[in-house]
Parts: sequence; C-alpha cells; structure tokens
Amino acid sequence: LSSGTRMGPLTGRKVLISAGGTREPLDPVRFLGNSSSGKQGVALAAAARRAGAEVTLLAAHMDVAPPAGVKVIPTPTAADLQAAVTKQAPSHDVLIMAAAVADYRPESVAEAKMKKGPGENSLTLTLVENPDILAEAVAKRNAKRRPSQRKKPRPRLIAGFAAETGDKEHSVLEYGQAKLEKKQCDLLFVNDVSGGAGFGRDDNAVTILALDQDTPVAEVAGSKDDVAETMIRTIADRL
Ligand code: CTP
Ligand code: CA
Repeated sequence: LSSGTRMGPLTGRKVLISAGGTREPLDPVRFLGNSSSGKQGVALAAAARRAGAEVTLLAAHMDVAPPAGVKVIPTPTAADLQAAVTKQAPSHDVLIMAAAVADYRPESVAEAKMKKGPGENSLTLTLVENPDILAEAVAKRNAKRRPSQRKKPRPRLIAGFAAETGDKEHSVLEYGQAKLEKKQCDLLFVNDVSGGAGFGRDDNAVTILALDQDTPVAEVAGSKDDVAETMIRTIADRL
C-alpha cells in the first residue's frame, strides 16, 4: 500500500471518476460549455479516497479544486474524456461517469479567432453528436466477458448519472429507468433537477437504480458529501 492509503471498504481497489463539464471549442478562445460545477464528482473522489481506494479523476472544467491524494488527468473536451476513459478504464475496478459530457460539439474548430462578418446579425453553427462514453465503456467491458469466468472483467462496476425532469407523460424515475436500460451500466444515480436542484449547489437528492434490480437500491438526500458517501458504500457493497 502506498503511503496515505487507508484501510476501508475500497482498499486495494482502483476507482476512475470523471467530473465537471466538457467544453467544446469553436475557435482558439471560444467554446460551448455547460454549468456543471464538478462538485458531485469531486465529492465522490474524496469519498472513494476515504474508503481506501486509489482514485484517478478525469477532470473536465470544474469550479472546485480536486481533493488531495487523487491523481488528476485533465480532460477538457468530450474527445479528451473519451480517449482517457478508453485508456484508463481497463486498469480500474470501478468507473463512475459524473461528468456532464456535451451531447454535441461544433463540427469544425476555426484555427484563428472567428470574426464578425459585416452586416451579419446571425450566426448558424453546425454541431455533431459526441460519442456516448458511458455506453461505449459498458459495451467494451461486456465484450470482454467470458461465460466460463465468474469474475467480471474490469471495470467490474460502471456507474452513470442522469439529471432528469419529469413531465406529463413520465416521472423522473421512469426516465431514469429508461436511461439505465439504454446505457446498460450497473448503477445509475438519478437526480431530479426539476426545481434547479443539483447543478452548482452543495446539496443533492439522488435515487440509486441498479440494472439487476427492479426497485431502487437507495434514495439519498443531503450534502453532496453525504450523497457521495452513500454512493461509494453502495458501490463497495456490490464489488
Ligand atoms: N454521458 C457520456 N457521454 C455522452 C453523454 C453522456 O458518457 N456523450 C454519460 C454522462 O456522464 C452520464 C450519463 O451518460 O453519466 C447520462 O448522461 P445524460 O446526459 O443524462 O444522458 P444522454 O444519453 O446524453 O441523454 P439526454 O438526451 O437525456 O441528455
Ligand atoms: Ca446529455
């Protein structure tokens, strides 16, 4: 054990966590971004560390500093994050995708700073879809699975997040369940963001869904640290 490693439910485990919001460049000084603060991902990294894990944080844009004792790899764009997950995931026991990945990126990045055209009072951007990093990580892990082996290949547990709002047709949990089935990750942390909860705040309310279970595993509300603690405990219990 390296110095500073504590004994806990995740001692000897390697945990990979993405956090923050990706920024998709338009030109050398401009980007399309989102308001993810990185707080929940950073709280998860700290909780995993407290539980004894060796933690790697894939950091997109974050408003908060990463916790001490954690290896940080900067991943500003979705493409950077995809490359880092592809490289790092097979050597980690757990992958948690807490980053807010931009669904689309500008089709092309201007080499020089874009100029306003004379008389142009509107601008149309063409965006292209980013790869689904979470779904891709699950598919790669599952492709390595051999029925003869009881032990799952790494990452043995893959967790995602879903920030949802309910509407007339479906509840937040119904949307969460649909997302879990689409992504096929082992755990999904579902966040009701109807009232603006979650983003940028210090508290959070999350329902934990599991692919192998019809009813929610846990419901937890409180500070992002409290929520992270429960998430990490749930993960440790299932490894
Ligand atoms: N995610 C990802 N790659 C993407 C988009 C999302 O890995 N290109 C991950 C997020 O990190 C999160 C989970 O997928 O863990 C769910 O993200 P979300 O934005 O809720 O899902 P989407 O599939 O993008 O669906 P939506 O249309 O609701 O945005
Ligand atoms: Ca999305």
